[in-house]
Formats: sequence, structure tokens, C-alpha cells
Amino acid sequence: MARGPNHSVSRIVRRASAAILALAATLVLSACGGRTTPGPAPAPDEILVGHYGSMTGSEATFGRSSDEGFLLAVEERNAKGGVKGKKVRVKTYDTQGKTQEAGTAVTRLVTDDKVVALLGEVASSLSIAGGRVAQQYGVPMITPASTNPAVTQVGDMVFRVCFLDSFQGEAVAKFAARSLKAKKVAILYDQGQAYSKGLKDYFGAAFAALGGTVTTEQAYTGGDQDFSAQLTTIRETMPDAVFVPGYYTDAGNVAIQARRLGLTAPLLGGDGWDSAKLAEIGGAAIEGSYFSNHYSHEDPRPEVQAFLAAYRAKHHGTPDAMVALAYDAARLLFDAMDRAPSLSGKDLAAAIAATKDFAGVTGKITIDADRNANKSAVIVQMKGGVPTFVESIPPAE
Ligand code: PHE
Repeated sequence: MARGPNHSVSRIVRRASAAILALAATLVLSACGGRTTPGPAPAPDEILVGHYGSMTGSEATFGRSSDEGFLLAVEERNAKGGVKGKKVRVKTYDTQGKTQEAGTAVTRLVTDDKVVALLGEVASSLSIAGGRVAQQYGVPMITPASTNPAVTQVGDMVFRVCFLDSFQGEAVAKFAARSLKAKKVAILYDQGQAYSKGLKDYFGAAFAALGGTVTTEQAYTGGDQDFSAQLTTIRETMPDAVFVPGYYTDAGNVAIQARRLGLTAPLLGGDGWDSAKLAEIGGAAIEGSYFSNHYSHEDPRPEVQAFLAAYRAKHHGTPDAMVALAYDAARLLFDAMDRAPSLSGKDLAAAIAATKDFAGVTGKITIDADRNANKSAVIVQMKGGVPTFVESIPPAE
């Protein structure tokens, strides 16, 4: 239906009255000395938790899988009566995989939505940016998956439920040296991500300590389309394997171009490869490659199998490690809320810090003095497009 003149008149009236209302609200707020940022306070009968994650962009499965894991934990908990007699709700903002957006999202969650805790991010660089804001406002944050050591060094409000890259780099190095018997490994890393730079360094140091040689370190920037210059240099060094500590979209593209250039050495990656998109993008080129990860759906432990059943009752397919880590992070947070005398930032942070032997899907979680977790890693191999269990690497002593 076309819009008639009456329609536009009523629109103008509506707009004018909305503007007057907004002005009045601002005046009232400033008269009381209150904040002028509009934002509904959380309903008194619910506990609001903020999630900031990449729901779009080249790391979109990180945010979406996280959301699936958080929601699964929330639904289970609410079905049992919630936390402290209140229902839990998770509000999610999209970071688009951009560092700048991570800080903005956390600011909004804290100042507008008044969340009592934060879950996220996945990518370490984004967790560092978001963590600084969480720390500044004194709101506890648990990252399910950011593995770079610097993330929790931001301050005493920032926690993680996953292992660190100092351990992950060593795990991949051990696998390369001992299981693959690799002597020479080339590295192609993302110079724009704290995760990738850190993992490269930890791997390199551990591989050298095991008697191996890193033949060359080549860099790219996330989203690059052409890796042929770096891959050509890498090919000339005749490596036994190529370590690509980046995120899945780039890793898939690297695999295709590596095979096209006749580079046949196995590719190795870290947890950043974990996405169903890796096989979609990399296709046959990624087959046979290995990466380290936080869990395997083939693990017979009851925690893993119960989680799989709960997931499959709601979704198709197999949850990636991000879903499992997010599920663990949210459940660990609720457990801390149960124990905390109040949900103030201080009380909640103290309860999270006191977590011991929490039975997670991704392993037993004890939060140490540096607000980190010490857990085992698994090495998986891409077979028929599916990450398939190869071996487990026990936690560092
Ligand atoms: N560990 C990665 C980082 O810190 C993120 C990640 C974790 C990605 C788990 C996939 C699965 O940036």
C-alpha cells in the first residue's frame, strides 16, 4: 500500500513527540545527576550475563559456537530453577572479529545493560581489548578459549577456562618431533593476531629444544588472499611439516595454495583451526593435516558423552571445541555464582578464583593463582573432512 499524506503527518507528529520524550528523559536524568546513557536495567528477577563474540566475519563460527555453548548451559540451568532463585539470561553483541569492536561491545554490556559478568571473546587480541574494559569497570570476565598468556595478565577480573599457548605450542612441537619425526618445520603465521604470534614463538622454542629446526618464519595478515610468495619461500626450505598457527579461514586458503604449489608436507595448526568451515574451505587440500585442540567428541568420558547428547537433542552435527569450552565457561560461572555471597564484581571474582576440580567437558578445571587453567590438549587429524582423534597430550606439570 502506498503511503498517503495522512501517514506522513502522523509520522512527523510521532517523531516530534518522541524527541520531546527523549529530551525530557535527559533532563530528568541530568537533574538527578544520573547517567544519561539510556539502557534498561536488568529485570529484578533475572541475572544478566554479557557475551561479546564474532557472530559475523571470517571468524564467525567462533562467536556462533560460543553462543550455542552458553545457551545450552543457560537452558539447563534455568530448567533447574536458575541461579540464586533467578533466571539467567545471556545478551550477545557481535565483535565482527574486530579488536576495536570488542572494547565497544564490553563497554555497552557493562554500562548500558549492566551485566554482572562477561563471557568472551575467543580470539586472544579481542579478549585483551575487552578484558581491559572489564577490568576498568570491575566486572569479572571469563574467556572460554583465548589461549595467549597476556589475556589474563590484564588484571584480576579476567579468567580463562582453557590451556595456554605456552603449553599448546609445546604440545604441537612434541607431536611434530616425536610422532611425525619431523626435523625441519617452516612457519606461516598471522602477524596481526596476538594468538598467532605467540603460538609461533612457543612452538619454535619448544621445537628447537627437542632438536628440531625452524627453516623459515613467514608472515601474513588475516584476510590475505595470496600466500604464494611466502609458500614459495617455504617450499625452497624443504620442510618436513609446515606450522600455520592462524584462524580457520586463512588456514583453509593456505592449504589450497600450498598444494597448488606442490608443497606436500603435512600442515600443522593450533586450536584456531577448529571450525566446520576449515574442511569446507580447504576441501581435499586440508586432508591429512593435524591440529591441536581442547577436546575430541570421540572422548568416552561421561562428561563428553552427556554434552554430545544434550547438544544433539537441539542441533544437527557435532559440536566443535568452542561449543564445549563455552558450555564449560558458563557452567563454571554459575557454580561460582552459587558460592559467591553476592554478585558484586569483587565477590564473584573471588568465587571464580576459588574454583577447584570443576568437572568440565574439556577436562577438569582448577583456576590457578594467575587465573588460568591447566588442561590436556588433543591432537586431531583431518580425515574425510572431520577432525579425528590421534593422541592426547597431558597438561604441563
Ligand atoms: N585460542 C584461540 C585464540 O586465543 C581461539 C580459539 C580457541 C579458536 C578454540 C578456536 C577454538 O585466539
